[in-house]
Formats: sequence, structure tokens, C-alpha cells
Amino acid sequence: MTAPGQEHWDRVYTTRAAAEVSWYETHPVKSLELIRAAGLAADDPIIDVGGGASVLAEELLDAGYRDVTVLDLSGEALRRQRERLGPRPVMPSFIEQDVTRFRAPRAYALWHDRAAFHFLVQAEDRQRYVDALRRALRPHGHAIIATFGPSGPERCSGLDVRRYDAAALAAELGDGFELAESSLVLHRTPRGAEQQFLYCRFVRRT
Ligand SMILES: C[S@@+](CC[C@H](N)C(=O)[O-])C[C@H]1O[C@@H](n2cnc3c(N)ncnc32)[C@H](O)[C@@H]1O
Repeated sequence: MTAPGQEHWDRVYTTRAAAEVSWYETHPVKSLELIRAAGLAADDPIIDVGGGASVLAEELLDAGYRDVTVLDLSGEALRRQRERLGPRPVMPSFIEQDVTRFRAPRAYALWHDRAAFHFLVQAEDRQRYVDALRRALRPHGHAIIATFGPSGPERCSGLDVRRYDAAALAAELGDGFELAESSLVLHRTPRGAEQQFLYCRFVRRT
């Protein structure tokens, strides 16, 4: 069955080159900085939620992390990642699924999401996302979530988004997560526009 939104994202990934989309980054510098700050071991499991066609998984493997999973609603996005990676000794695992329906088969040490959560404009979907996150992350695990910041765009890829400051994002996640650090970062799109992103790293309380 096609999940809501899947057709939209599959269309985006079949009609636009990876480096043309507004969220494209050559190197996910801020994400990698926050992942390093989590102090994981090389074998600790990491999941990139709404990973799309991002190079993050590839760069994590290059940095020596060996257990990387990419989850995305769009099979086309994941196909692109697989194609770009080609065969390599250690591959990421790929999960094609709506994060709001995700039942993690294992406990992850780190959950990363850049620019997926902010598309959840319905409160029930955000609650389902937080439930999925809580179930997926082990105690003391890290959740790195990047959304548009308070001055970021109101829409992306033709869809409405919600913008957050750190307090509002922390409130969405609830008491089970402690905010460890946050910063606002300007992203330059391939067309030269600037977009304000909020990056937060949370630690799951026991
Ligand atoms: C703006 S893109 C960001 C992609 C990637 N994280 C990056 O930074 O390059 C948003 C991604 O989230 C995915 N997505 C949107 N809603 C989702 C959902 N409910 N569950 C899983 N993935 C979703 C889309 O397919 C898309 O790949």
C-alpha cells in the first residue's frame, strides 16, 4: 500500500537531480559534527530518518561507522542512494517506510533526522513520530533533529512545514528527552537562497 506522501516524494526524486533540490548539501557538516559529539563506538547502530538521497550514510561509513540504516518514505530516494554507493564492503541497511508507522526492529544508539520532522503538520503524526523515536532509541541514545528554524521557510518542496526554536522542539519530544545542545545554521540552497535550520541534539532519559 502506498503511504500518504510517498507519491509526492517519489515524484520529487524521479524528476529532480539530487544536487538540484533545495535541501541538498555537498557535505552534511553540521550533522557529522553533532554525530561525533555523541561519542559513539564504530559498531553503535545509527539510523538516518528521512535520509532521502543524502550523502550522510556514505560519509558515516567513510568515517568508520559500520552499522548505518537509512529510512525513507520514498523508495526512489533509497534507490538513488544505493545506486550512488555501488557495491562496497560495508553497506547501509535501507528501510522504505513512513516514520510515523515505524516499529524499530532493534534499539539504535543514534537517530538522525534532517528536514523530515518539520513536514509533520498534524499533531497526531508528530505524536506517532515521537512514539516511534522513543521505541527506537536505547536509553542514553542520541536524537539529532534538524528542522527549519524560526526564520526558516514556511514551505518546502511545495508542502507546508512547521518551524521550531529549540524550546518548541524539546516540548514536542517531551520529558523523555534532554536537550544537550542546539544551534541555528544557515543553509545555502543550490540556487543560492539562504534557509535557517535549527539543529538539536537530545539525549534519551532512562
Ligand atoms: C527535505 S528531504 C531531506 C532529505 C535528507 N534528510 C537531507 O537532508 O538531504 C525530506 C525527506 O524526508 C522524507 N520523508 C518525508 N516524510 C516522511 C515520512 N513521514 N517518513 C519517512 N520519510 C519521510 C522524504 O522522502 C525526503 O527524502
